[in-house]
Amino acid sequence: MFSLNGQTVGFDTENNALVIIDQTRLPDEEVIFSLKTADEIVTAIKELKLRGAPCIGVSAAIAVAVLSNDSRADSFDSFFNEFNSNYDRLLSARPTAVNLYWALNEMKKVIVTCKGEPLDNIKKALNIKALEILNNDIATCKAIGKHGAELLSGVDAVLTHCNAGRLACVRYGTALSPVYVAKEQGKSIKVYADETRPLLQGARLTAYELTKAGIDTTVICDNMASYVMKQGLVGAVLVGADRIALNGDTANKIGTSGLAVLANYYKIPFYVCAPFSTVDFDCENGSKIPIEMRNETEISEMWYKSRMTPEKARALNPAFDVTDASLITAFITEKGILRPEQLKLCKDI
Ligand code: MRU
Repeated sequence: MFSLNGQTVGFDTENNALVIIDQTRLPDEEVIFSLKTADEIVTAIKELKLRGAPCIGVSAAIAVAVLSNDSRADSFDSFFNEFNSNYDRLLSARPTAVNLYWALNEMKKVIVTCKGEPLDNIKKALNIKALEILNNDIATCKAIGKHGAELLSGVDAVLTHCNAGRLACVRYGTALSPVYVAKEQGKSIKVYADETRPLLQGARLTAYELTKAGIDTTVICDNMASYVMKQGLVGAVLVGADRIALNGDTANKIGTSGLAVLANYYKIPFYVCAPFSTVDFDCENGSKIPIEMRNETEISEMWYKSRMTPEKARALNPAFDVTDASLITAFITEKGILRPEQLKLCKDI
């Protein structure tokens, strides 16, 4: 029996499956299940059963390995055609998180490099790459946590938005990693978690994983951030990212840019914690980042016994917004702390 062993996603190589925790069932129950087909995997991503930019990327890499292992193709060309059609389907599942595109391209590079070898060797190489991407995510997030914990050495409490914790990655998370690493180092940082309308990733997921880890957690409604900042309750804001443009403009969960404006007003440092796989070096600035629009019913119906808004009222549901680079104090990455204007210097590293 495969065990996730504290990870959010895993690769069950014995049964050839992507294994995930169904995040739509949290915090009520921790349901773990296996996904084997492209349909199942794409649906799970669309329905946010698995979510968070790094987690989506890692899952896509495992998905490619799982689907390739099941391939009956008997020539490189048909194998590559199958891969390309899975690539397109997976990529279309969610448009904003660039980690999905990054991970699929990492897998594509493996196939292209192995051209000419027996298909079994290519499949083995894809399995190895998927596991490498999974393990690298753990190491990367831990490194983000170490840099962040050092930076936050004088901070007792932070505010975070959405869920950029272990549930959005494999372990540790990005924005919550400094909190976890600080705890490992014997220092406790209190976390204020925005509930994060409309899908409540903060209230359901961030609060779930932090309290499970014994971290002092307070959930606030999204419209309470200004109050919390004005009262001096937080020393920093930590958020994740779905796509960072070359100039430092950053797409993250809807509501993030408003927080950045508030933090700027109250002179509270605003940190974006993200791995380099979230930087889109081909994207010049935030206006070029595609923003996913989701169903209106997530606002009008999802959390209520009956429809909450009048039938004739429409609801606007962009899943992400873009924070101007000028509002970001620094990026906390696995390679260290960078100011927005330093990002472009890393393009060729
Ligand atoms: O729609 P979601 O829940 O996938 O949105 C997630 C976020 O916006 C996260 O902050 C982001 O992906 C970074 S996760 C480390």
